Amino acid sequence: MRTYIDILSQETGKEATVKAWIDTRRDQGKMVFLDLRDATGKVQAVVLPSHVEALVVAQKVRPEWVVAVTGKVNKRPEKNVKVGITNGDIELEVLSIEVLNEATTPAFDLATAGLEVNEEVRMKYKYLDQRRTRIQHNIRTRHKVVKFIRDYLDKERFIEVETPILTNPTPEGSRSYVVPSRVYQGNFYALPQSPQQFKQLLMAGGFERYFQIAKCMRDEDGRGDRQPEFTQLDLEMSFVTREEVMKINEELLIAIVTNLFPEKKIQQVPFPILTYAEAMAKYGSDKPDLREDKNDSNLLAFCWVVDFPFFEKTGEDNVDGTGEWTFTHNPFSKPQDQHMNFLMEKKNIGDILTTQYDVALNGSEIGGGSIRNHNPVALRRVLEIMGYDEARIEAGFGHMLDALGSGTPPHGGIAWGLDRLLMILLNEPNIREVIAFPKTADGKDLLMQAPAPATAKLLRELGIEVKKK
Ligand code: AMO
Repeated sequence: MRTYIDILSQETGKEATVKAWIDTRRDQGKMVFLDLRDATGKVQAVVLPSHVEALVVAQKVRPEWVVAVTGKVNKRPEKNVKVGITNGDIELEVLSIEVLNEATTPAFDLATAGLEVNEEVRMKYKYLDQRRTRIQHNIRTRHKVVKFIRDYLDKERFIEVETPILTNPTPEGSRSYVVPSRVYQGNFYALPQSPQQFKQLLMAGGFERYFQIAKCMRDEDGRGDRQPEFTQLDLEMSFVTREEVMKINEELLIAIVTNLFPEKKIQQVPFPILTYAEAMAKYGSDKPDLREDKNDSNLLAFCWVVDFPFFEKTGEDNVDGTGEWTFTHNPFSKPQDQHMNFLMEKKNIGDILTTQYDVALNGSEIGGGSIRNHNPVALRRVLEIMGYDEARIEAGFGHMLDALGSGTPPHGGIAWGLDRLLMILLNEPNIREVIAFPKTADGKDLLMQAPAPATAKLLRELGIEVKKK
């Protein structure tokens, strides 16, 4: 029987077996002190001179070796009690140590927060980096937040649905990653930039309330708050107004903070709502940092930004449109009611406002969504304004137009950047610190060594020739 370290004190006065890593080892010659660490915490163990066999093993073990230690759980003498530290009042008097696995010397110190260690080295040995307290805390908190979201939305009549990873491109303003098809040589699947089209198709399918903890892939340059592969809380609702979508998301954000981050303070509830024009005029940003005290690491200033222009003139970095105009946020969004006729008549294009709402937190955009165009003619107008010809509309969006015309209810939704939200809630400097296996800023996975060349055999099967540089 193995006892987890966090409940070891319940065995005080008795014998117990702990299965753990050697965290630190202090050899005092006659006696050896071992700090033992498992997934639940740490405890000090002492090997006394009277236990000769255990002492021999204790002198041999090194940090990160994996052991099973049987001993007597003793109360510490009053003068040795460490107040405020888990298990600061107990000590394991070691009777025997079994080595379960040895360990090479770690590439870096695991006792620190780790931010001083070269990040490429941390990524190469990510499994070691994960053993440090800070990363354990981040990844475990991530689990708690995701579980909280799932339980909350389940109670609100949402269901979680998995949508495809091998699919066709959806425009989200980035390039897609593609996967070559072996069976249909010369053809490619695209990895989703978001589940946008699928979630709308689920509304056409009659599910009414959908969510997903969804992996999204975007071939864009990395930054502190961007990864080529990241996670959204993606959701969509039928028969809703923009205010209803904003309300349920605001309530969920508040519930996460109050239940899981009680030390944090939300500056203003309900969240302030700014128009895009106000935000730009007053703060020069569409994701303004409204914190009254930017040095207070526990202060959370959420805000909504609304009334964005639907279209903007095509820039050089445009990857979606071919025409003069492209969408600012989401081509599937509905314009505001008072501008629907502009869209239908394709006039005053620069003046059309969308139903888009973004949610910002402490100067980061942590989410965005909109009410969608459920009228197929209106969606067609958006694509026409973006310069898509009939053939491209049919090939890329024919299924959406068909679905919207098949009896799709009015609907809208949102997606949060879950990594970004966690980064801020956990006071981390970048999203890599809250992702179990992050990629470097330039998109490399240093642990698995991806991307990597494909073998000649695989390329042959795929019918792909790689041009030599
Ligand atoms: P959008 O493209 O705004 O909307 O994405 C939603 C949120 O996802 C986060 N995000 C990212 N996080 C990490 N790395 C990235 N590369 C990255 N790109 C985006 C941001 C952003 O606010 N389908 C729509 C949502 C909808 O309309 O329902 C969408 O994907 O926090």
